[in-house]
Amino acid sequence: MPQSASTMTVTCQDEEQTVLWADRLSHLLQPEDIIALNGNLGAGKTRFVKAIAASLGIEETSVSSPTYTIVQSYAGQLLLHHFDLYRIKEEEELYESGCDEFLEGGGVCLIEWANRFPDFLPDDYLEVSFEFTSENSRELTLCSFGSRHERIINSLKAFLS
Ligand SMILES: Nc1ncnc2c1ncn2[C@@H]1O[C@H](COP(=O)(O)OP(=O)(O)OP(=O)(O)O)[C@@H](O)[C@H]1O
Ligand SMILES: [Mg+2]
Repeated sequence: MPQSASTMTVTCQDEEQTVLWADRLSHLLQPEDIIALNGNLGAGKTRFVKAIAASLGIEETSVSSPTYTIVQSYAGQLLLHHFDLYRIKEEEELYESGCDEFLEGGGVCLIEWANRFPDFLPDDYLEVSFEFTSENSRELTLCSFGSRHERIINSLKAFLS
């Protein structure tokens, strides 16, 4: 795994704060950004994706974890590809299904459970890790790997007081 270039941690005391950080991140996204979303069941990965989608003008209620497909795409101000790798058993399934092509398909990729298949990710991506701190609070740790996504963390740091 490549070394992380920049990192920051934010505490979200409630769901609204998670939504706020997702909104801030959404304004910094560019086509072909890759965001790996890691954390336990119910940690808030899909909630975060819904908030990004809403910020980009996509109907939030249309977003849910892809159940029958590995990836679901949505068109808003940017094209979003929402992956969920939780049910994938073998890495080959990702290539056989052709969903690796979305990584270079001109959209933003948001990949739940990306840490299950670290070799699937390119060298340059942003990781957002979700940790439970209580029922309604979460700690989000953002790490950029490679130089491309470092700009996101550098910009988000401006929001830290
Ligand atoms: N601070 C918070 N941030 C995010 N979600 C929160 C927070 N507090 C409570 N929640 C709730 O936690 C749940 C998170 O569920 P979500 O589906 O986003 O988890 P997930 O990480 O995608 O899980 P899975 O691995 O099963 O896909 C939602 O019901 C949400 O309302
Ligand atoms: Mg989910």
